[in-house]
Amino acid sequence: MIPIANPQFGNREQAAIADVLDSGRVADGPVVRQFEAEFADFCGASHGVATTNGTTALHTAFEALEIGEGDVVVTSPFSFIASANAARFAGATPVFADIDLSTYDLDPHSTEKLIEEHDADAILAVHLFGLPADMTELREIADAHDCALIEDAAQAHGAAVGGSQTGTLGDAACFSFYPTKNMTTGEGGMITTDREDVAKRAASFVNHGRVEDRPAYEHVRVGQNYRMTSVLGAIGRVQLDRLPAYNERRRANAARLTEGLAPIEGIETPVEPADRRHVYHQYTIRCEDRDGLAEHLEVEGVGSAVYYPKPIHHQPPYEESVAKAPAAEYAAESVLSIPVHPEVNDEDLEQVIEAVQDFDTTNRGQ
Ligand SMILES: Cc1ncc(COP(=O)(O)O)c(C=O)c1O
Repeated sequence: MIPIANPQFGNREQAAIADVLDSGRVADGPVVRQFEAEFADFCGASHGVATTNGTTALHTAFEALEIGEGDVVVTSPFSFIASANAARFAGATPVFADIDLSTYDLDPHSTEKLIEEHDADAILAVHLFGLPADMTELREIADAHDCALIEDAAQAHGAAVGGSQTGTLGDAACFSFYPTKNMTTGEGGMITTDREDVAKRAASFVNHGRVEDRPAYEHVRVGQNYRMTSVLGAIGRVQLDRLPAYNERRRANAARLTEGLAPIEGIETPVEPADRRHVYHQYTIRCEDRDGLAEHLEVEGVGSAVYYPKPIHHQPPYEESVAKAPAAEYAAESVLSIPVHPEVNDEDLEQVIEAVQDFDTTNRGQ
C-alpha cells in the first residue's frame, strides 16, 4: 500500500537527540532558541516562538494579539477543528466564512461580509493543503476593518505569496510539526511574527507569564506551559534543513500527478494561482463518487484520506455557530487526498495515476 503519509527520520535526527540527552538540557533550552531563530530566518520573519504543537501555537497567537473575550474571529469551516478551538480557548467566538472551491482557502468576499455583519476583530486564514490563502486581498480587508490577520500555516511550511513566505504574511503565523506535516518533530509548533510586542507576549504566555528581564519566579501575566522540549527542538533543526528538498519533491510529485490526472473527466485537480507557491502538504482531488474512488484505490494498493469529511460548523461544539459556507459543504462531500509526500517515488506515481484512470474508465462503462 502506498501510504498517505510516511514521515522519515535518519541518523542526523538520532545524533541530534543523543547530543541533547548528553547535555542534560532536555526541557526548554538553547537548542530551542536556535530552532526558533533558524525557523524564523527560513520564513523571513523577525521572531519565532516554539510551542508544544500547532494548536497551542494558535492559542498563543490569539493571546499575544490580545484577541479574547467578546472578540469575533472569522475563519474557515473547511479545516482541522484546531483552528476554531484555538479561538475558543482564547475566549473569542469563531464565525465561519465560505471557501473558494478552487483553492479550498477562505473566500475574501465571504470573509469581508462576515466581518461587516459581526464587527469582527480578527481573520484566521488557513493555508489549507499547503496553498496560501489570498493574503493580498485578506490583508487589505483586515486593514480596512481594523482586524488582526493570523495565518494558520500548520500545513504550509515554505509556501509563499509573491516573494514572501508563509510566516510573514500576517500579524502572526502558526505552524504545526505533527508527523504528517511537511516537516515534523513528532508533536510541536511555532509562531512567527515581525512584531516584537507579539513575540514578547507569545514567549511570555508559553512560559507561565515569565519575561526575560525579570527574576525566575515573577509572572507578569497568566500563561501556560506550552514550551517545546530541547529534544524536539533538536529534531526540528535537522528537519528544517531537509524541508526545502522535501518541498521540492512534493512539488515535483504534484506536477506529475496533475499531468496524469487533469485530463480525466470527473476529476478536479488542485490549482496553483500564478502568484502563489503551493507546497502540497496534501494533493487533493475532487470527484462526485469520492467514496467509490477511495474504495477502488484501496483495492489497487493506493492509500487515500478525506480531509475533512465534516465542516467545523457541523461538528457538535460548533453547531450553533454562524456559518455561510455552501462551497465548504460541497468540498467536504467530494474531496479526496492521495499520496504526494517525499517518499512517493516515480513508480508509485504511475501506480496512483493508473489506479485513478482505471476507476474513471470502469465508471463510464468502457
Ligand atoms: C490546519 C491546521 N490547523 C491546526 C492544526 C493543529 O496542529 P497540531 O496537530 O500540531 O496541534 C493542524 C494539524 O493537524 C492543522 O492541519
